[in-house]
Amino acid sequence: MAEIREQKLLHHALVIPCPFQGHINPAIHLSLKLASKGFIITFINTEFIHSQITKSQSTDPNIFSKARESGLDIRYSTISDGFPLDFDRNLNSLPFLEGLINGFSVHVDELIGKLMSDNCVDDHPITCLIADSFFVWPSIVAKKYELVNVSFFTEPALVFALYYHLDLLEENGHFGSDENRKDRVNYIPGVKSIEASDLPSLFQNSVVHQLIYKAFQDVRKSDIIIANTVQELEPETITSIQEKHNFYAIGPIVSANFTDLTIPSSLWSEYDCTQWLDVKPRGSVLYVSFGSVALVNKEDILELAHGLMLSEVNFIWVLRFNILGQDEKSILPLGYEEKVKDRGLIVPWCNQTKVISHSAIGGFLSHCGWNSVVESIWCGVPLICSPLVTDQLANRKLVVYDWKVGINLRDGESITREEVCDKIKYLINEETSSNLRKTSAQVKETFHNALATNGSSNVNFNKFVDELKMKIS
Ligand code: UDX
Repeated sequence: MAEIREQKLLHHALVIPCPFQGHINPAIHLSLKLASKGFIITFINTEFIHSQITKSQSTDPNIFSKARESGLDIRYSTISDGFPLDFDRNLNSLPFLEGLINGFSVHVDELIGKLMSDNCVDDHPITCLIADSFFVWPSIVAKKYELVNVSFFTEPALVFALYYHLDLLEENGHFGSDENRKDRVNYIPGVKSIEASDLPSLFQNSVVHQLIYKAFQDVRKSDIIIANTVQELEPETITSIQEKHNFYAIGPIVSANFTDLTIPSSLWSEYDCTQWLDVKPRGSVLYVSFGSVALVNKEDILELAHGLMLSEVNFIWVLRFNILGQDEKSILPLGYEEKVKDRGLIVPWCNQTKVISHSAIGGFLSHCGWNSVVESIWCGVPLICSPLVTDQLANRKLVVYDWKVGINLRDGESITREEVCDKIKYLINEETSSNLRKTSAQVKETFHNALATNGSSNVNFNKFVDELKMKIS
């Protein structure tokens, strides 16, 4: 990395992502960027995440060893999340989410205390905490150890605004009761108008509601907020948040694979799709993935499978082992893989950024996890959107209706094979999707420009670093 050791000022930041793939990836990239600006970083994973990464990637126990060899001072520690390693940690596991609310901070507190006392003896003390916005405890820990408190929001400003104004949504009856209002939401500051069906889905669950409500109360107490979005793409929402907080749009925070340094971060072993892709014509392959946590029901999987077959389009489909919620061997119809073997590759997990940056990829059928959206736009790959939970519904609004870089898959509650087939054909055919491809190229340019020397996100990142240093000193 060209910027390595640009300024060796030796500020020391603790970076703590939420223990999910979609939060760890951007936190790693942010850490590399900050380290390249001369920060010492201590990156913290939970023991469970650490064991998943080292097991599946057969990697050095210090996942940042390559970064350290390149001269970046990134240290690495692990803490317990309060649960045994074999505990079921999926998003539907309420005991796990409650543990994140109530228990996790004890382990963070212990670790910071230890690091602070170790550091005081012979090193540069920690001066700053950069924690995921979904945690509920950063302000307490930051206050206790007198750290500058940076809240890292890994999703777009639209979603930030919705979570931030949860109280308004409740007051107006759009969530929190058995019969929520179904009409458009037009009272959120900085958000023109949004369908009630685009609101983050987990609002309806009381434990998750409590978690998010507490977290965004805590975010209000942070010194600086940084987010994985781009000023030009969400100007009104960002300006509205900036009226209340030091909020910097520093995206796109693309996976470390877009830099020279590859930091092992996958929670599962990556199947190498390169050889398979190398012999496929340019733009002919649809990539299908639903991210790392969302569950898909068996009926939808079957309709997708049939739709992919009917479309006769080449495809790579990431069928995570636990996509149905349990480890089920026979997800697909009997003999399916054999029938599609000449043009379909079904894998349990892959290096997504490597796959979608391949010239053979012509489209991405996605659940609209924010990282997938960002990575797809970064590569100029148009999307077919099939959101499932959380922010994915609001992300789809940005993709399909605001930026026009994707089309919607689900018009109704469930999906049909005919609908899947039609949308895939429409997207992969360069004539029918020519407008979509034009806007995808434009938004891709906005993304890339934002990171150029005078680009908005680069300028914002530098301002953020300056402000951070000022607050520290
Ligand atoms: C979760 C939420 O579901 C998402 O909505 C939120 O925005 C972030 O947290 P996840 O569902 O896993 O994330 O989706 P996404 O945000 O797309 O992140 C998945 C990450 O895993 C991406 O960085 C992607 O590159 C990576 N990935 C996915 C792989 O490396 N290999 C795969 O096979 C699939």
